[in-house]
Amino acid sequence: MEQLKQKIREQGVVLSDQVLKVDAFLNHQIDPVLMQQIGREFARRFRDQRIDKIVTIEASGIAPALMTALELGVPVIFARKHRSLTLTDNLLSASVYSFTKQVESTVAISGSHLAAGDRVLVIDDFLANGQAALGLASIIRQAGAEIVGIGIVIEKSFQPGRQELEKRGYRVESLARIQALRDGQVSFL
Ligand code: G4P
Ligand code: NA
Ligand code: NA
Repeated sequence: MEQLKQKIREQGVVLSDQVLKVDAFLNHQIDPVLMQQIGREFARRFRDQRIDKIVTIEASGIAPALMTALELGVPVIFARKHRSLTLTDNLLSASVYSFTKQVESTVAISGSHLAAGDRVLVIDDFLANGQAALGLASIIRQAGAEIVGIGIVIEKSFQPGRQELEKRGYRVESLARIQALRDGQVSFL
């Protein structure tokens, strides 16, 4: 997606050979016009599928997931990373290990919002090792729902996430695929 790549070139900051900072439009400040274009692009790529719901994970997955949901006319559910006073009934959860942060955490969704047979599109902002997406996939399967695909805003293709997801049979659509972060420069696949 050209507008996204342009934005990454202009406003992305290469923090290391592993990490790209995009706080200017995705992870802290959010560019609503870009998010709308992202939503339209995910909707276009998955138009061949019947989709009942979108599932993402807080916090940074919510903006692109919401815009995609608006385009497709379906609800969006975000998995929570922290205990909530009201999220108590019928909890479905998965343990997610973050290689980036080297911590194990639990993510949860109330089963009340996912029904057996629902066709679910997973959306997230980054794909690195794929652990967040696999956690969401586990929760969706626990509900008896089906994953029709995984939409990623920025894929770091030099990390194993896509491979991990594809080897489990999931269709992955990434809007920007980064081949390398080197010498402060982003190169796309
Ligand atoms: P994985 O799910 O693909 O295995 O990724 P990992 O655990 O390594 O990622 C942990 C967090 O770091 C996630 O955000 C993920 O989106 C983010 N992340 C991974 N690589 C990059 C990167 O190169 N740049 C940026 N900006 N983020 C990256 P999170 O902790 O869930 O935070 P948030 O959703 O509240 O933003
Ligand atoms: Na993130
Ligand atoms: Na995320």
